[in-house]
Amino acid sequence: MFEQLDQIEKEAKAALANVQSLDDLAAWRTQWTGKKGSLAQASQSIGKLDPKDRPAFGQRFGAIKQALSEQEATLESRLQSAALHEELEEDAVDISLPGRAANIGRLHPSTQSLRRIQHIFAEMGFQVWESREVESDEYNFELLNMPAHHPARDMWDTFYVQSDDPQQKVVLRTHTSPGQIHVMRTLNPEPIRVILPGKCYRYEPVSARSEMMFHQVEGLVIGRNITMADLKGTLANFARRMFKDDVKVRYRPSYFPFTEPSVEVDIECFICGGEGCRICKKSGWLEILGAGMVHPTVLRNGGYDPAEWSGFAFGMGPERQTMLRYDIDDIRWFFSNDGRFLEQFG
Ligand code: DAH
Repeated sequence: MFEQLDQIEKEAKAALANVQSLDDLAAWRTQWTGKKGSLAQASQSIGKLDPKDRPAFGQRFGAIKQALSEQEATLESRLQSAALHEELEEDAVDISLPGRAANIGRLHPSTQSLRRIQHIFAEMGFQVWESREVESDEYNFELLNMPAHHPARDMWDTFYVQSDDPQQKVVLRTHTSPGQIHVMRTLNPEPIRVILPGKCYRYEPVSARSEMMFHQVEGLVIGRNITMADLKGTLANFARRMFKDDVKVRYRPSYFPFTEPSVEVDIECFICGGEGCRICKKSGWLEILGAGMVHPTVLRNGGYDPAEWSGFAFGMGPERQTMLRYDIDDIRWFFSNDGRFLEQFG
């Protein structure tokens, strides 16, 4: 019996020397010191011993059990810290790898242009006025001196909301010009110096030159003794700031129902310097905006007496100006959401 205990101790210690991992250790425990292990089984034979030998057997048994569990505990803590070490090493972050760059967003080219235009006019004392995109037929056309059936309406076809009541005709604005009436009706009888940036809509086939949605920046100045010279000075200054310090500006007679006289403003082509190229279509000039002296009817519709007040107005397209500036050949690039196009405008 005693030999059996000695044998178990010897073998268990030898087996413990071969334990390499926590899994091995668990298996070792099951075999040797566990509830059904060899040591426990050997202890059951105590009943067969002569009662006088039992205390000695019990002592021996206790000593072996304690020795084995001490060794086991030491080994277990060694294996645990080794396992922890290994895990830390496996999960280590390699800080020598180059980092993954964050994708930095940027402003849309139209927004950049709008901000640039706003900045230039702000320095000339203009306030920014945001007007509505959903308009009535009355504001978009009638109050701008285009009664129903006026042929000029053909220049601006839009999206109509169906209604039987002609007074209730709702449209998506075709230009920012209806904002002129809102500003005048809000601010009269004060003088006015505002720009009105925003989105406009047209019912037109989408092509390289026209989108159904685009931006405009309208300008309106109302005061006493405002003349065409103010218009020319303001817009030439804008063109110089926007395009080039010594840019040449030209005013061509034109027609808009809400201004009289009306002009279109061109700048000398900055690609060819006026010689004639593909961008300016061999003319040497690039059209950048429409403008004119506010029509007396429009002044009256805004609550200003044309005998006392005068003013000028203008309207420009930031997308068109961006196209000219960067030689972009198709307006559809702006709103087709192609990152390859957009990310070029840092
Ligand atoms: N509303 C015009 C358009 O969409 C642009 C324009 C021309 C605005 C002359 C004006 C102006 O205020 O005076 O084509």
